[in-house]
Amino acid sequence: MIRQPLRPAVLEAERLLAEAGVDSPRADAELLAAHVLGVQRGRLPLVPGIDESGAERLRDLVRQRAGRVPLQHILGWAPMGAITVAVGPGVFVPRPETELLAEWGLARLRGVRAPVVVDLCTGSGVLALTLANARPDAVVHAVERDDAALSWARRNAESRAGHGDTPVRLHRGDVTDPALLTELDGAVDLVVCNPPYVPDSTPVQPEVADHDPRAAVFGGPDGLDVIRHVVALAARLLRQGGHLAVEHDDTQGESVPALLRASGAYEDVRDHEDLANRPRYATARRELSVQAPRVERSGTTS
Ligand SMILES: C[S@@+](CC[C@H](N)C(=O)[O-])C[C@H]1O[C@@H](n2cnc3c(N)ncnc32)[C@H](O)[C@@H]1O
Repeated sequence: MIRQPLRPAVLEAERLLAEAGVDSPRADAELLAAHVLGVQRGRLPLVPGIDESGAERLRDLVRQRAGRVPLQHILGWAPMGAITVAVGPGVFVPRPETELLAEWGLARLRGVRAPVVVDLCTGSGVLALTLANARPDAVVHAVERDDAALSWARRNAESRAGHGDTPVRLHRGDVTDPALLTELDGAVDLVVCNPPYVPDSTPVQPEVADHDPRAAVFGGPDGLDVIRHVVALAARLLRQGGHLAVEHDDTQGESVPALLRASGAYEDVRDHEDLANRPRYATARRELSVQAPRVERSGTTS
């Protein structure tokens, strides 16, 4: 079998991806090469070469990536913390920044035995499954409105259960529904949510515009349509002293905390930055002394 050295093939892939405007051409070129060769990216320097069929396969994947197909769709998976989830057409690709929200939530659960956790807008199930993996004693519920996304979540949940993780309870549901999960009212220790939050008129990269489901990304004129409902719903679900973490657009570092404060249901409202120092998620603790506000169909609270 004739092998060619790997390095020039990877450099050529990087060049083509950079030319196509891909954000991280070196990382993507190496991850695609590692995928073709069936090795971890860190072990690429130990690979002596690539045969012609491997090189052709790599060229094909690079062409797809240069056409701005998301890297995770090509690989078939996306990582978060200790787990990976399967992703592809019909489901939102998990982003690295969401891991910060998961870590914050896990820190709030320290010392809470057998916590009840709800992941709203679960998509691939990645947040629910990350939390279930880290806390085998937890009861984790995950809610998703879209059938295609839900089938990815189901596949991922079945796969993690096969690894011995706590099973996640999947619910087909809409966070704007006042009857959603009423059986958990006042009983939840942690609500996490990465909702659609991008303001409708915001330009996005081709990977997002052409491959993430629109309803997973955009959240109305100010991006807050779904978050308004989540603020009210979490107030109903959380026990007193329970915690909420909700991801948001980098333009919403003031508006989302303001919604949380205005609801009157929370204390200790804070905003947090991502690794690029952009406002990324807001957190709050369910007030100790007030009644849960009612959730109206319009999303207003009273
Ligand atoms: C940004 S994606 C997040 C997916 C996942 N949590 C993650 O972090 O990768 C938002 C998800 O919310 C779902 N969604 C949008 N509106 C919803 C609603 N009203 N009720 C429930 N799910 C909703 C979308 O279908 C999509 O899967």
